[in-house]
Amino acid sequence: MGFETQADFGTPEAQGAPVTLKVDGQPVTVPAGTSILRAAALQGCSIPKLCATDNIESFGSCRLCLVEVEGRTGYPASCTTPVAEGMVVRTQTEKLKQLRRGVMELYISDHPLDCLTCPANGDCELQSQAGAVGLRDVRYGYDGATNMGQAKDVSNPYFDFDPSKCIVCSRCVRACDEVQGTFALTIEGRGFDSKVSPGGFENFLGSECVSCGACVQACPTATLTEKKVVEIGTPDRSVVTTCAYCGVGCTFRAEMRGEELVRMVPWKDGKANRGHSCVKGRFAWGYAQHQDRILNPMIRESIDQPWREVSWEEAIAHTASEFRRIQAQYGTRSVGGITSSRCTNEETFLVQKMIRQGFGNNNVDTCARVCHSPTGYGLKTTFGTSAGTQDFDSVMQSDVILVIGANPTDGHPVFASRMKQRLRQGAKLIVVDPRRTDLVRSPHIEAAHHLPLRPGTNVAMLTALAHVIVTEKLYDEAFIRERCDWDEFQDWADFVSEPARSPEAIEPLTGVAAAEVRGAARLYATGGNGAIYYGLGVTEHSQGSSTVMAIANLAMATGNIGREGVGVNPLRGQNNVQGACDMGSFPHEYSGYRHVSDEGARALFETAWGVALDPEPGLRIPNMLDAATEGSFKGLFVQGEDILQSDPNTHHVAAGLAAMECVVVQDLFLNETANYAHVFLPGSTFLEKDGTFTNAERRIQRVRKVMSPLNGFADWEIVQLVANALGLGWDYAHPSDIMDEIAALTPSFAGVNYARLDTDGSLQWPVTGDAPDGSPIMHIDGFVRGRGKFVVTDYVPTDEKTGPRFPLLLTTGRTLSQYNVGAQTRRTDNVLWHEEDLLEIHPSDAENRGLKDGDWVSLKSRAGETTLRAKVTERVAPGVVYTTFHHPDTQANVITTDFSDWATNCPEYKVTAVQVAASNGPSAWQEEYAEQARMSRRIAGVIDAEAAE
Ligand code: SF4
Ligand code: SF4
Ligand code: SF4
Ligand code: FES
Repeated sequence: MGFETQADFGTPEAQGAPVTLKVDGQPVTVPAGTSILRAAALQGCSIPKLCATDNIESFGSCRLCLVEVEGRTGYPASCTTPVAEGMVVRTQTEKLKQLRRGVMELYISDHPLDCLTCPANGDCELQSQAGAVGLRDVRYGYDGATNMGQAKDVSNPYFDFDPSKCIVCSRCVRACDEVQGTFALTIEGRGFDSKVSPGGFENFLGSECVSCGACVQACPTATLTEKKVVEIGTPDRSVVTTCAYCGVGCTFRAEMRGEELVRMVPWKDGKANRGHSCVKGRFAWGYAQHQDRILNPMIRESIDQPWREVSWEEAIAHTASEFRRIQAQYGTRSVGGITSSRCTNEETFLVQKMIRQGFGNNNVDTCARVCHSPTGYGLKTTFGTSAGTQDFDSVMQSDVILVIGANPTDGHPVFASRMKQRLRQGAKLIVVDPRRTDLVRSPHIEAAHHLPLRPGTNVAMLTALAHVIVTEKLYDEAFIRERCDWDEFQDWADFVSEPARSPEAIEPLTGVAAAEVRGAARLYATGGNGAIYYGLGVTEHSQGSSTVMAIANLAMATGNIGREGVGVNPLRGQNNVQGACDMGSFPHEYSGYRHVSDEGARALFETAWGVALDPEPGLRIPNMLDAATEGSFKGLFVQGEDILQSDPNTHHVAAGLAAMECVVVQDLFLNETANYAHVFLPGSTFLEKDGTFTNAERRIQRVRKVMSPLNGFADWEIVQLVANALGLGWDYAHPSDIMDEIAALTPSFAGVNYARLDTDGSLQWPVTGDAPDGSPIMHIDGFVRGRGKFVVTDYVPTDEKTGPRFPLLLTTGRTLSQYNVGAQTRRTDNVLWHEEDLLEIHPSDAENRGLKDGDWVSLKSRAGETTLRAKVTERVAPGVVYTTFHHPDTQANVITTDFSDWATNCPEYKVTAVQVAASNGPSAWQEEYAEQARMSRRIAGVIDAEAAE
């Protein structure tokens, strides 16, 4: 295994017409607008450089890249000089060598000469460029003023800043501005005194920096260096793989030294991230080696007994015999399973196969139930596919970007950076969100319209936007007549045109000024390419599916479907939630979204798997739990999912789990659900296995094994062991075999195999005979379902109502540094940025209750009560409170209700009527819970008795 490297062409790619020039006598043809530096690099000639790198605009400050251009006087910087037709460039004359050596000598004279002990030794551009220009002696001593000896900033948990090594090339500043879009860094002072500063703040940790790592990657010296490189040394091998956190699906080069992971470096050829990263994928991978990981299987007869470590053989045999015993006693449908959106496509496919083939029923569901199941339903109904319509690159062609119920700078940060690049280029932004998210106003970006609607009123708001578009005749009639069902459009248009659906009529309901709504509707309909991006603020409602269809209606009405720059784009939460859905994780669908009652599809699977399959849809997660409390559902296999913490109404989930006779949890850690488990099968991390993830753009990408599984097996191997103990006779030797089966049984994956993925880097499904290279953009010539379907989406208020006892509306979300229920990120230094879940409350609501910032408050709903601390902020509107759900001791889902989407049962996490009052600290159950968690970990031997006290 070698070291995967990527060339740096010095300046970004240009898009102009072809231009031919000669560099050192060799002709090269490049697009107009390309720099001489890049043209030379493309031709194989590397001009020395320091301040240029190819993911940021050139700056021309270091003067190392000087060249001679025939017919021009002087020595222009090749990074800032564009090519011209017929240009003749020389890069290696004696004069140039002399000039470059002189420049380099000045740099080195103010740089510590400690290369041998420097953490970047061998991985430092200053060092390599000094060699490249042939610098052998430095004539100037260190007697005069130097910048050396300045104190290091070690405040960031993941990287150090050593200003004594800084050459003030400003690559870090430009990376933060242009790539990340945070504008956290500045160059302070002038001339010799100039230095990099974290925006005037004392240090990086206390600054605006969000630890994306772009500056560290850009730095050509050891000034910004990962702490792990300092600790472990420079890596000696690397593997290209995919981040296991969110649905953006960033590609990274995992750089190793022996079996130790040194760092994750974003991969420029990653088509989802284009070389960028966020703090989670870049730095927060320490959980993979965390001491809390359970590495040996455990079983216990009942959940009040201590765990007993057993061999893998015993654990697997026990699992299979328990499921068979339960089925013999209570019937075929008394058991089921939950697949994981964190595991690979192949692993997910195997779990649903084990349930369908081995358990003989369709009782399989996935965590998409609690996030994007309405996306599946809504987009399948209107367009014919359960997925977003665009690739991420598409946003660079958008003119108007409408973000509804999503907070991409926290939830999908790398995509948010791309979106912000486009917004800084001039695209207009509409934000529909109860909170004033960072996107509403951030450096060089301001939303044209922010519609801070009351939680639960999405459908009314989208209908009002449609009202304006239809009544002001801003719709695209030609598109609708050609691509959609015209009669259905007319029914819908009549419906949305009614005066009761006007912005003015719904203003009292949504709390948003009608003029703002009208302005936003006109902008979306007439502003050019209009793209809609949405998240869980759309789906996690009792009207989640209606909202998705209302979004689809808007896009069809304005002709914003089927080309670059437009579309309907669900920002999917977990790394493989798209894949988990694609792989047949729902109780009514096989892989590729074919209904289990479809005889043709069923026959295909029956032939391949050699068994008769159940034609009846199985139970969804909430139905499994209901059936458990009623006594008819007794056994559950849960892979990589913590339903106790992530599903609504925690007390009900706990009661369901407690009523079962065999709960098997396969996970990295003893999660909250494991408190109710009888068998614990240790899971493996994404670093320890091969497979694929599918991101929010339908992009299938390879996950590659970087190190051996600490627990002994990859998750797919464990499922295969259980399946074979059930008598299924599987013999997959590698995940590629599983993908071959998926491709054979799933039309949209027909052309997918590991060889193609290795060659192409990634493929976006459908990959079929008609689209052998995949489908970056869908519905180009027509909708997958034939004609686009307008669906009338009547606004039906949720049954969850505010009143005197519960006067505030709680909505929930996530924060940048944490991920989902925090099982991974809480076990990394990311806790520094989010030690606890806080309750955001508007100053007026806080004042009414006598609350100050940081006070403990009780948060009470009709379902339950929890305690956390208050954060008084105007980010939320009066009457609305907000919290995250990353910490188990807060258990925000104790207070969320049982209300759910009418079509898919997706829980209504985003609307809960609550009361907030002053409190003295954590409630009794939280103290008890914390003690239980400590006990559980102690029993498992994770922490010793002393540490548990
Ligand atoms: S880590 Fe990212 S946000 Fe922080 S200073 Fe560097 S580029 Fe800016
Ligand atoms: S910290 Fe690194 S990238 Fe930033 S100015 Fe200094 S040397 Fe250049
Ligand atoms: S944006 Fe998502 S996929 Fe990319 S590095 Fe961050 S967590 Fe990983
Ligand atoms: S690389 Fe061109 S001036 Fe620095």
